[in-house]
Amino acid sequence: MNTTILTPAMPTSGPFCLGDIEAYRDWRTWKLEAHPRSVADLVVPLADPTAPTPEEKARILDLCRRANMAVYDTGDRSGRAGPQLERALRSFAAHFGMTAVEDHRSMDDEAVVAIEVVDETQRPRSGFIPYTTRRILWHTDGYYKYGYPGAPVIRSMTLHCARQGREGGVNELLDPEIAYIRLRDENPEYARALMAPDAMTIPEFVEEDGRVRPESRGPVFWVDEDTGALQMRYTERSRNIAWRDDPLTREAVAFLRELLRGDDEPFLFRHRMEPGQGLICNNVLHTRTAFTDWEEPGRGRLMYRSRYSNRIMDTGLKQAA
Ligand SMILES: [Fe+2]
Repeated sequence: MNTTILTPAMPTSGPFCLGDIEAYRDWRTWKLEAHPRSVADLVVPLADPTAPTPEEKARILDLCRRANMAVYDTGDRSGRAGPQLERALRSFAAHFGMTAVEDHRSMDDEAVVAIEVVDETQRPRSGFIPYTTRRILWHTDGYYKYGYPGAPVIRSMTLHCARQGREGGVNELLDPEIAYIRLRDENPEYARALMAPDAMTIPEFVEEDGRVRPESRGPVFWVDEDTGALQMRYTERSRNIAWRDDPLTREAVAFLRELLRGDDEPFLFRHRMEPGQGLICNNVLHTRTAFTDWEEPGRGRLMYRSRYSNRIMDTGLKQAA
């Protein structure tokens, strides 16, 4: 899979080519018609995550083709967690072709990252916003992992709710293809600006252990040649990020920010996951609102996250039957 440096070309045909108006129109019509209308439409009950039935798998894949995401629900509200559940989640992901797992500094023996509130003794998670009760602004996962050799571009992930907090901790979700449509409909030049190879730059970052994460420079939107899929990387944060310094890029970024912050987007979903539910997605745009956690040890909000460099199987434009 593509884990080496990407230099995606601007597409010369198809829905994501600005000159191919007909292909865009047809795809846009399909997309807006096919997209689920509510969170309830995204939910797929799942008897056993390690062995999804053909029907469960087909429903999840269909949702991921139409919306790049689904919410599965194992129905286990017990709050039980641990390596067995983590292994089950990795096995579940593998059923959907999600195998190229990211090597993350905070992952455990099962290649899963436990997102929970930690204190300063719990390195290396401590010090990063996900491991606090604070809100997380709009982003795609691993937006800073792009544009340098070996950067594991994050194309898919699962985010499983093992335990929910006392209050808050709502996720907002938006399919990047919907964001693309809104931008391009507003001004096709916005789409062009955000496909520029230097649209967004995240400066070099030195990890606590001295490892250097190189500068990441690349587009917001690009098309993977092998799958034909539209990919997106984005963060709403304004510190440690440099946008290309031209008026169109600034306007496009402002438009995107307004879209995500506003109340007008019917396909922007808000969902507070129940224990036993999880998001499986092609790295869609998302947030987390702030939350209040339970005080009792071992009861706090706990999400298990795994990220992959490959997309959910058969969800690219060139793969969908
Ligand atoms: Fe995230």
